[in-house]
Amino acid sequence: MTISIWFNKKKKTMKYRALVTTEENKKFVNSIQEKELDFLPDHNSLIKVKYSSLNYKDALSASGNKGVTRKYPHTPGIDAAGIIEETKSKKFKKGDEVIVTGYDMGMNTAGGFGEFIKVPEEWIIKKPNNFSLSESMAFGTAGLTAGLCLRKLLQHGLKPADGKVFVTGVTGGVGIISLMLFNKLGFEVTAITGKMNEKDLLMDLGADEVIDRNELDVDLLSPLQKPIYSGGIDAVGGKILSNLICSTSQRAAIACCGMVGGLSLDTSIFPFILRGLSLFGIDSAESLLQVKDEVWNNFSSDWKLENIDRNIKDISLDDLPIEIDKILEGKQIGRVRVVYD
Ligand SMILES: NC(=O)c1ccc[n+]([C@@H]2O[C@H](COP(=O)([O-])OP(=O)(O)OC[C@H]3O[C@@H](n4cnc5c(N)ncnc54)[C@H](OP(=O)(O)O)[C@@H]3O)[C@@H](O)[C@H]2O)c1
Repeated sequence: MTISIWFNKKKKTMKYRALVTTEENKKFVNSIQEKELDFLPDHNSLIKVKYSSLNYKDALSASGNKGVTRKYPHTPGIDAAGIIEETKSKKFKKGDEVIVTGYDMGMNTAGGFGEFIKVPEEWIIKKPNNFSLSESMAFGTAGLTAGLCLRKLLQHGLKPADGKVFVTGVTGGVGIISLMLFNKLGFEVTAITGKMNEKDLLMDLGADEVIDRNELDVDLLSPLQKPIYSGGIDAVGGKILSNLICSTSQRAAIACCGMVGGLSLDTSIFPFILRGLSLFGIDSAESLLQVKDEVWNNFSSDWKLENIDRNIKDISLDDLPIEIDKILEGKQIGRVRVVYD
């Protein structure tokens, strides 16, 4: 790989490479460009990014979704793990290994798809011990979201003895890590997927059964259906979540975080008032820093996934445009990690 960061002695500015999304004739184009550090916003900590990862939200930003990113040109990337290069913070010092996910990074603040980021210290987490930077980006925001969902369900009191749980969008980033975490904690898991050809992989990762999502992607069958699940993590929303809400047992809890299957929910009050269902919404981006910190520390201890690297595709910055198209088409399996020099 070429070394692409250097000081231009004449101008005393530093150059770095980044994926830049530009708007051209109402179309959005992604290219790898050389930028100067001045391109980065004026925040108090400059971080040399060692790893990033690809999330669905990045693909929305990179394809011109104005709900995610208002202004272009822009560098997406809601995840970054790296080393503090320069900081005015009293909490951090040069050389610290850190993780940044969410808040405005990658939305309207240049993100982890560049070799450098500049962010406020309030967004930065010190990497836990017993956990590498590369491991942290195997999780990334998708993993963090799975962890936040799990944390919420455990706080509710959900336990393996309550009965089986489900995971939707299970071959995707949030789903695959949710499955692995549930399995690690001893839950019986139903994996719900559109890719039945990945059944062996899902069983191998800890699913007890695998169901074709098309069975659930139908108009609401009935406001109360056979009680099957004590809880679950949903990354897809729409008709699939609507039907699952009606298939829960007494005092069940569902954490929902995604909408690849649809924005709306068709339900009635019955599962809530007759079965005591709790439906939790999860927003990882704006979660409190101490909550994120707690989940990252769980990943490095009680929730440690020894096999986390198994379904990771490592790519370079130059490979990103192709991988962005794939995630938009729902064709990714597992996680995509961006590795810098
Ligand atoms: N709230 C938050 O903080 C937060 C954080 C991260 C992500 N998210 C959201 O969570 C969702 C999943 O994110 P991700 O990073 O895991 O994305 P991903 O890697 O693209 O995975 C999404 C998975 O959903 C399934 N799927 C795709 N199209 C579908 C459709 N039309 N109907 C039903 N299922 C479909 C596919 O799995 P199968 O083929 O196995 O079904 C796909 O792999 C996205 O909506 C994302 O924006 C939210």
